[in-house]
This record gives sequence, structure tokens and C-alpha cells, in this order.
Amino acid sequence: MIAMQATTGRATDAAASPVPAFMTRDVCVFYGQKQALTNVSLDIHRNQVTSLIGPSGCGKSTYLRCLNRMNDIIDGCRVTGSILLDGQDIYSGSMDVVHLRARVGMVFQKPNPFPKSIFENVAYGPRIHGIAKDKTELEAIVHNSLEKAGLLAEVKDRMDQPGTGLSGGQQQRLCIARAIAVQPEVILMDEPCSALDPIATARIEELIDELREHFAIVIVTHSMQQAARVSQRTGFFHLGILVETGDTEQIFTNPRDKRTQDYITGRFG
Ligand SMILES: Nc1ncnc2c1ncn2[C@@H]1O[C@H](COP(=O)(O)OP(=O)(O)OP(=O)(O)O)[C@@H](O)[C@H]1O
Ligand SMILES: [Mg+2]
Repeated sequence: MIAMQATTGRATDAAASPVPAFMTRDVCVFYGQKQALTNVSLDIHRNQVTSLIGPSGCGKSTYLRCLNRMNDIIDGCRVTGSILLDGQDIYSGSMDVVHLRARVGMVFQKPNPFPKSIFENVAYGPRIHGIAKDKTELEAIVHNSLEKAGLLAEVKDRMDQPGTGLSGGQQQRLCIARAIAVQPEVILMDEPCSALDPIATARIEELIDELREHFAIVIVTHSMQQAARVSQRTGFFHLGILVETGDTEQIFTNPRDKRTQDYITGRFG
């Protein structure tokens, strides 16, 4: 359900379904003096893909980075508002940020495998987080993660070869396997297909659809076709404001805000 605030024109998100994975309220982000996000309130639901769309510079990546505190590593960046993961404030002093980033995994625009073997790329996270009790369990996690990422068949005979030797689309699936291996709750993807060809893109889109069975997924994309294909909910950002959020179909067929309408019909951006 979307409630438009008449005074500000901002969308608030009070979607009716059960407790969301992320509940974010009035999130503001500043880079030094410059404000990049203003009062963003959005829920991220389990077993759903939420896509974030909007013109370049509107704050999509900034918002995504708030969800696993990746903005912490940017000098001069300040985040205010409330970001709850399973009801727990991720900006509280007691939050273990390393653990948080395992619970909230991230896949970037450019595939970034570690300069290690395919096996080690996936085994690394479970090992540092102590997820596997022995070698057999670690191998099982690596196999399962590669399987879920739709890559196992292509790499099972060359697990000891460098991850960087795979094709771009395979590398991106390896990065997805690496994120899955630590049993996250949420996977954040920032334009995960923009460096890929259409076939590799279609493969990743299929995969995203399968993965939502297990995870909450947030994807930033410049492709409205992609948002329409893969997501159930969509948020439209403009100039640091979350203008509108709703069911993907509604956003693309019957947007409530003129700015959303203008963007999806290609009038700007
Ligand atoms: N590290 C940073 N330091 C200062 N300003 C930044 C930084 N990162 C982003 N910004 C600014 O914050 C605003 C939002 O940027 P952000 O990268 O979140 O946009 P975006 O919607 O992801 O854009 P794009 O679609 O081009 O990736 C922009 O004005 C940008 O210049
Ligand atoms: Mg971005």
C-alpha cells in the first residue's frame, strides 16, 4: 500500500505483507555538506526482488550501500534515519559489521572474483565466518553455492583454476555463488548485468528469479525491461528522493507520480 505524503510528494512504504527483511525509515545520506538521499522510507521483503530505478546520480547505489554499511568506508559520508534488519538497528554500536556483510551480501556491476581458484572464491567466506565444521562440509557448501548460482556444471572439472579465467557472465555467477555461500538473508546487486552480453544477462535474470525463493534481493538497474522482468516491487528514485514505490506492474503500467511516468516513458534520464 502506498501512502503519498501530500506535503512532500514523497512515497512512504507500509506494504501490508509480514515483517520485512529490511525496514528503512527517513534515511538521509550526506557526502560532506552534500545531501545525496532525503528521507527514504522503503521496506525490502523476503522472497521478492525489489528493483531500484531512476536517472544517474539519483542515489540508487547510495541507498543500496546503506543496507550493508558499505558507506562506512567512504570518507565524510554520514547516514541518518533508521535501518532495521529483522527489527535490529544495523547502525547500532553492537552491530558486527563483518557479520552484517555476510547477512547482506553484495554483487557489483563489474564481476570482481578474488585472484584465487574458483573453489577458493566460494570457500573463502564460509571459512572466515566459521560456517563449515570440516573440509567435507566446506566442499558441500561450495558445491551447493555453485549449483544454486547455476555455475556448477560449467566449472566442476576445473575448480582449482583461477576465477578470473572465467567469462564475464561466469565470473558474475561466481560472485553470486560467493555471496550465497555465507547463507545471507539479503543479496544486493548494483547493476549486475551492465557489463554482460544479452545471453549472460538472460542467464543472470533467470538466476535472480530462482534465488528469490531463498533470499530477499535488491537490484539496481538502468534497464526498465530488466526491472519489469525480474522484480515484484519497484522503487523509483529521483534527485535523492524515493518518489514512488509499489508493485512492479503498477509502477510500469499505472504510475501515480508524473516524475515516474516521465522516466518510464523515456522523457528524462
Ligand atoms: N563517494 C562519494 N562522494 C561524494 N559524492 C558522492 C559519492 N558517491 C556518490 N556521490 C554523489 O551522490 C549522489 C548519488 O550518487 P549514486 O552513486 O548513489 O547515484 P546512482 O543513482 O547510483 O547513479 P548511477 O545510476 O549513475 O550509478 C550523486 O550526486 C553522486 O555524485
Ligand atoms: Mg549507481
